[in-house]
Amino acid sequence: MNNTLRPFMARITFIKKETYDTSTYGLQLKENPGFSFLPGQFNMVGIPEVGEAPISFSSEPGEKNKFQHTIRAVGRVTQAMAQLKEGDGLQIRGPYGRGWPLKEARGKNILVVAGGIGLAPLRGFLLYIWKNHNDFGKVVILYGARTPDDLLFKEELPLWRKKPNTQLLLTVDEIPPRTRWKENQGVVTTLFDRVGVSPDNTLALICGPEIMMRFVVVGLLQRGYVGSRLYLSLERRMKCGIGQCGHCQIGPQYVCRDGPVFSYREIRGLPDTLI
Ligand SMILES: Cc1cc2nc3c(=O)[nH]c(=O)nc-3n(C[C@H](O)[C@H](O)[C@H](O)COP(=O)(O)OP(=O)(O)OC[C@H]3O[C@@H](n4cnc5c(N)ncnc54)[C@H](O)[C@@H]3O)c2cc1C
Ligand code: FES
Repeated sequence: MNNTLRPFMARITFIKKETYDTSTYGLQLKENPGFSFLPGQFNMVGIPEVGEAPISFSSEPGEKNKFQHTIRAVGRVTQAMAQLKEGDGLQIRGPYGRGWPLKEARGKNILVVAGGIGLAPLRGFLLYIWKNHNDFGKVVILYGARTPDDLLFKEELPLWRKKPNTQLLLTVDEIPPRTRWKENQGVVTTLFDRVGVSPDNTLALICGPEIMMRFVVVGLLQRGYVGSRLYLSLERRMKCGIGQCGHCQIGPQYVCRDGPVFSYREIRGLPDTLI
């Protein structure tokens, strides 16, 4: 973990609009050679005099000083980010936190269950797995969004379907009138019966609204998954990002430092979570 509070400036190299309120930003650090991250970690991303927000890496690791963030404009800081243009700068502190369990995932099938913006922190992990697909088993992705327009990475999803050993199932809550949609309708757990892997040698990685993650965990436990093989990325309001201020604390755990990715076994029964 990088334990520094020092921010670095990163230049926006491209902006790709994903949905009406979400864009992916390509970023390049001007200094800090050797910056590297793992999928599931995050940066504190800031605009001077506006504020900072924790944002996960959405690109695959490995490109020196280059990375992507996929950001949904929901409030003060993220709406200010949505006004930025290519060539503008963003302040970056990080990478922080513990990401997805890459070591434990080796040799196993991977079940990804994502809701809405929750696919962003998992994209880098998936790209990494596909690049090293001989080290992993089958990959199953269940991705749910509110409507077809709310799906992230729309142009990439058809390519993901063609990746080796991969099953991708999509679902939406609503289908607005005059919208073409041939996939599933319903909450993401309605896809469980179509999952083509058994729980025995499978790691489940879950990211989305906390209420969704709760139902996903309940459903997977009922289907024979054990708590130590279910991993979730938690969201809490953050300030320092490095385990010093206590803003993100749940029970004995600091989400910024000990997470944001936890196994279900680590967080089961902790106060102030729905999980
Ligand atoms: C580890 C981590 C990774 C994340 N990764 C991503 C990512 O990849 N992409 C992404 O888009 N987002 C991500 N988020 C969420 C993102 O950090 C928040 O949406 C962001 O902080 C919002 O900041 P803001 O200033 O724009 O919004 P705010 O102005 O802070 O408001 C955001 C929302 O929270 C509500 N809110 C405001 N104040 C409070 C409060 N005190 N308590 C509870 N709710 C409040 C508002 O009503 C609004 O709906 C991540 C969060 C964490 C913890
Ligand atoms: S944000 Fe300060 S302890 Fe986690």
